[in-house]
Amino acid sequence: VIVLYNCPGMMSEDAPQWRALLTRLVPDIDFRVWPDIGRAEEIEFILAWKHKPGDLKRYPNAKAIFWLGAGVDHLVKDPDLPRQVPIVRLVDDGLTRSMTEYVVQHVLHYHRRQDEFDALQRRREWNQLVYPLARHRKVGLLGLGVLGSDAAEKLLMFGFDVASWTRSPKSLPGVQSFHGESGFLPFLKRTEILVCILPLTPETTGIIDARTLTALPQGAFVINAARGGHVVDADLIAALDSGHIAGATLDVFHEEPLPADHPYWVHPKVRVTPHVAGQTFAETAAAGILEGMQSISAGKPPKNLVDLTKGY
Ligand code: NAP
Ligand code: GLV
Repeated sequence: VIVLYNCPGMMSEDAPQWRALLTRLVPDIDFRVWPDIGRAEEIEFILAWKHKPGDLKRYPNAKAIFWLGAGVDHLVKDPDLPRQVPIVRLVDDGLTRSMTEYVVQHVLHYHRRQDEFDALQRRREWNQLVYPLARHRKVGLLGLGVLGSDAAEKLLMFGFDVASWTRSPKSLPGVQSFHGESGFLPFLKRTEILVCILPLTPETTGIIDARTLTALPQGAFVINAARGGHVVDADLIAALDSGHIAGATLDVFHEEPLPADHPYWVHPKVRVTPHVAGQTFAETAAAGILEGMQSISAGKPPKNLVDLTKGY
């Protein structure tokens, strides 16, 4: 099996780890690391992440592209994407668990008024602020796919009042489902902590704008663990400055790395993390990718195929 690793967007130490893990499972694998591709027509499978647009069309015998992340927005906007080659996105327990940790961490942070306790500490002030029971705290998830569902289940374990907003109706036990255009405003009106885990598509771009933020109750919080393009930055900053939104935790940005002069870095109500909410762990992901390669080689459809008409 000849595999090309074309992941300039991943850390350089990742390639040897992928090579070692895949070779342990399939000893005769020929694992090539871009740009040392050898003969392009030999490449059978491509592992890619944040590739150089145009680069994926160079492999005439590629049987599949395995995207080493959950969100395929970078991939689908490549005008030279070989659309006839199946694309398999990453669905993996390590990634899912890490995203859920992030969501739970930051929901708990706001639920337990941690920003206010931090401010009290800075003033050496002892003030036992009260917080509601989790069952009285309304968390709203934009997106209830692989990642949103796991986060929802873990939030339910803490007892939070959880709702979701999606394209199609959902029936995850314990989660109130809203969907489509008509479900959007009612979903926002009941949501005190909004968590975005949507794919970035033309329909979801800029979804966290002034209209959305205004519909949230006074003092609501926003957590964006999806893509920077979901947020209209000027609208969010205005809503934070007016006090309507009490705080925002942002993992993803229009431009990454977040430029040094961006107002988010120093905004007192913004917590910035550097696109680490959910991470790809070769250790957990390698076996699933090999399983996908085996399915394709056996002429069977692999799991987690991207639907290019939906864009996710
Ligand atoms: P997924 O399984 O495909 O789930 C996507 C969810 O979004 C589905 O519930 C879907 O609704 C909903 N959705 C899509 N378009 C919609 C629309 N126009 N209106 C309403 N709902 C819509 O994806 P996933 O694996 O959970 O990943 C979600 C996203 O997380 C990724 O695309 C990526 O952007 C982001 N992510 C970020 C990080 C990070 O570190 N920051 C890490 C991993 C992933 P239906 O079920 O009704 O289709
Ligand atoms: C990370 O952002 C991913 O999409 O997996």
